[in-house]
Amino acid sequence: MTAAVTPLSKVRPNDPCWCGSGLKFKRCHKPTTERVAPGALSPRRPVPDTIEAPPWAATGGGSNRDEPDVKSADVIDRMRRTGRLAGDVLAQVGAAVAPGVTTDELDELCHTLTIEAGAYPSPLNYNGYKKSLCTSVNEVICHGIPDSRPLRDGDIVNLDVTCFREGVNGDTNATFFVGSVDPESQRLVRITRECLSEAIAVVRPGVPINAIGRAIQDHAEGNGLGVVRAFIGHGVGETFHTDLAIPHYYDPRATKALQEGMVFTIEPMITVGDWRHQLWDDDWTATTVDGKRTAQFEHTLLVTADGVEILTLRADGLWSGDGGQP
Ligand code: MF3
Ligand code: CO
Ligand code: CO
Repeated sequence: MTAAVTPLSKVRPNDPCWCGSGLKFKRCHKPTTERVAPGALSPRRPVPDTIEAPPWAATGGGSNRDEPDVKSADVIDRMRRTGRLAGDVLAQVGAAVAPGVTTDELDELCHTLTIEAGAYPSPLNYNGYKKSLCTSVNEVICHGIPDSRPLRDGDIVNLDVTCFREGVNGDTNATFFVGSVDPESQRLVRITRECLSEAIAVVRPGVPINAIGRAIQDHAEGNGLGVVRAFIGHGVGETFHTDLAIPHYYDPRATKALQEGMVFTIEPMITVGDWRHQLWDDDWTATTVDGKRTAQFEHTLLVTADGVEILTLRADGLWSGDGGQP
């Protein structure tokens, strides 16, 4: 398939900007093609002790990874409620995305909304992570830490929300546009959302786990895009990340069959260029090696008797983000 849009890297400084302003690119949206620079972190946000917190809130540790893949009816019931909350928090924080808003302000909103709903923001102190939300801008693949950087017109930003309530986690993310975004980035975000949608469509009992990655890889590479290998979907439940691994590429070894009652995430990270990553000095922020853009969408999913249920849909049944609606 031919790319219908001009790659951002091919727009020259004196070309007219793609946004239609009539200005030269260098006088308009070119600054947003520069690499993302780290900003300053705000102090740690407190959580009232009336909120039930997961073990890592106090310890700064990680997950107890050996939770069973198949959940009890009771856990599933609780995950429906916590999942929907995460979907609704994501929608509300996404609605606040605008040029000039800092990623720290988005973190504050996520933190406040989560606590107001009687939930704990799962990222906070998870393996020592310092914030309640992950904010991944442009070439940041995942785990961007909210800081003092204001969003710029033309950026794309992934917001990854995880809530802990009733003893279980709901994990979901979406990529949002900041002001007007170039056509190549719009296409990236739309196809990334389609990758998640096509992967969800193959989920039902008896299907091998690697059918999920195959669906994602086929759609991404069929459209000339790359699939990040280093970060994968995961089992989720009473703990944040279990040992159940869901690669987003075709892995011939991932032959375990899906079973009714399994709960896991699918969260493909798709790139315009090279899919390999590198880490910032903070040891969290993962970026593409070539500085080209990347997008991600994530849902928490339940395998049902005849297919799949998306546990992190919003209360209105829709998805968030600017890749369109299912
Ligand atoms: N929500 C992320 C995921 O999808 C994990 C974030 S870990 C954190 O798995 F510590 F950065 F919050
Ligand atoms: Co996840
Ligand atoms: Co997530």
